[in-house]
Amino acid sequence: MKKISLIFFLIFTQNLIFSQNKAVFNVHADKPSGEVSPNMWGIFFEDINLGADGGLYAELVKNRSFEFFKPLTGWKITGGKSMYGVNYGGEITIINRPEKQATNPRFMRVVMENNAKGTLGLTNEGFRGMGIKKGLRYDFSILYQHKNAKVKLHLELINPKGEIIGYEIFTPKETGENWQKGEVSFVANATEQKAKLNVWFEGNGTLDLDMISLFPSDTWKGRKGGLRADMVQILADMKPGFVRFPGGCIVEGHDLSVRYQWKKTIGVVEDRKLIINRWNYEIAHRPTPDYFQTFGLGFYEYFLMAEEIGAAPLPILNCGMACQFNSAELAPMSDLDPYIRDALDLVEFANGSATSKWGKIRAEMGHPAPFNMKMLGVGNENWGPQYVERLKIFQEKIKAKYPEIKLVGSSGITSDGEMFDFLNGNLRKMKVEFIDEHYYNRPEWFLANANRYDNYDRKSNSKVFAGEYAGQSDRVVSPDNQNNWQTALAEAAFMTGLERNADVVNMASYAPLFGHIDGWQWKPNLIWVDNLQVMPTPNYQVQKLYANYKGDLIIPILDKNKNPFIGKDSLYASSTFDKKTNELIIKIVNTSRQIQTAEINIEGMAKMGEKARLISLQNDDLKAENTMDKPFFIAPNEKEISINGKSFSVDLKGYSFSVIRIKRN
Ligand code: AHR
Repeated sequence: MKKISLIFFLIFTQNLIFSQNKAVFNVHADKPSGEVSPNMWGIFFEDINLGADGGLYAELVKNRSFEFFKPLTGWKITGGKSMYGVNYGGEITIINRPEKQATNPRFMRVVMENNAKGTLGLTNEGFRGMGIKKGLRYDFSILYQHKNAKVKLHLELINPKGEIIGYEIFTPKETGENWQKGEVSFVANATEQKAKLNVWFEGNGTLDLDMISLFPSDTWKGRKGGLRADMVQILADMKPGFVRFPGGCIVEGHDLSVRYQWKKTIGVVEDRKLIINRWNYEIAHRPTPDYFQTFGLGFYEYFLMAEEIGAAPLPILNCGMACQFNSAELAPMSDLDPYIRDALDLVEFANGSATSKWGKIRAEMGHPAPFNMKMLGVGNENWGPQYVERLKIFQEKIKAKYPEIKLVGSSGITSDGEMFDFLNGNLRKMKVEFIDEHYYNRPEWFLANANRYDNYDRKSNSKVFAGEYAGQSDRVVSPDNQNNWQTALAEAAFMTGLERNADVVNMASYAPLFGHIDGWQWKPNLIWVDNLQVMPTPNYQVQKLYANYKGDLIIPILDKNKNPFIGKDSLYASSTFDKKTNELIIKIVNTSRQIQTAEINIEGMAKMGEKARLISLQNDDLKAENTMDKPFFIAPNEKEISINGKSFSVDLKGYSFSVIRIKRN
């Protein structure tokens, strides 16, 4: 008994000795120091980690048109002739006709010899399986041609045990020598993470097949052949200010022949020429030999998605330079025209009238109204004098035709040092509107750099676009990187510096965006997915809080000595005012283990209510993560607090990020 009392005494006295730190936050609501851009917190999208094919693009069939380097990647044939010519009934071959059909040259020929169901067939394994939901309709489609074949296709969705969880028959009509699209839908009777699709051929005759496709019907906005609704929704929930697309290194390509070319990503899907995805082979420890870009999610779908989630489009185009980590190929200055043409035509595709050449294509695809694109990036992580001389030509030609388009230029792969200084200096001289800075660094870097923009050049015409950043729990490109609470907290602290300096930092986006748990190359990622579920990371929750509670005026928030909170006593803070919601928004990050009391004094804001909202993200364990089983383990907790006057106290838990919203009545 005595022993227990002694322990209590010790704990109690220890609490008295180490009493809570109290910090005074003076908020000058009547002295805004600048404006926050409406685009401030956005999204970086790249087809990495099965972000598009196998991810956001909801197609379930992998290699639907047999155009992967190995035409039968993803497919297994059952029956048919063996390699020794022994006939098990029927035959399946791949035909190539590049002269006739350059964009989609291969198709499959199936010769049936009175085949019964189960003797000749195909199985598609999907992208790490197919995510199938009980009770949901699945839309099968196919391009085919045949003359007088008497044939039926038995479609089966099977689970890993081989049990049928969805079934339908498709009977192709006679087409002669014309390709035709056939469609049939059916409902699945079980939920399965890793289903496969069987196509059994029954009958007699020759049937040509291409674009064998299966989509769930619950796509974003129910669009046929559309995007995974849960993946778009989680982006929409963030209320992002912009969507950067299509990357990332994918813009540059390993060499110029496989650079991203937007014109090849629009129009009917079967004519979008597939290329190898650079992330197929880029990361030695995570080779992904079945990774190709089908461009089913192309530039039209991108513009549409950005519009539908309320974000400004921010396309990034190739500047005539391939990835400088890879081939470093350059388009000669004399041959830059097609690259510049692509940029000019993209503006017309996005904004031109429905009667202009490219605007007409947009209208025919279903969007006669312009997409209202205002920004365009030229080059991703490009560097050196070769980049600057190319960017100058782009700038001259784009501005001559579209002076209203604001340009984004690259500051290379590092956010300091010789490469950065050279590019940052030159781009500022050129008055490039946005300079794209990338930082993939350890959490300590993010904490130490919360003041990075406090003394940035405020006279320059160029603004910062923090276009790619993420705290690396290990090191860049390490497979051991985790989306843990430490990285998220450090990013939250750093972002107070971006928000405080929103007059010089106009946009920011975490990168990369999506990672498939069975198909990733790069870690960490903002959102993890499997075939059925999305999992927001703590880093996503931080981004979402910033974007949801953005505000449009920067409000100074200072300590007793009139200094910003940039890490003293492990505290970081920023504040904004939202004119639409009429709210003062205060963000405070406490990176210490200890609970700290914030004494908040609000000056210059009359008619405050007596209540405020406190939204916090917190965990005692810096290594804590969200998982597929517990996707909201670290998620915002919201409660009402009493503020009773212009000065009030709030307890900031250890390792916490708090957002306080105070309404002006
Ligand atoms: O986000 C992953 C990659 O990191 C991007 O493609 C590239 O721009 C950066 O190096």
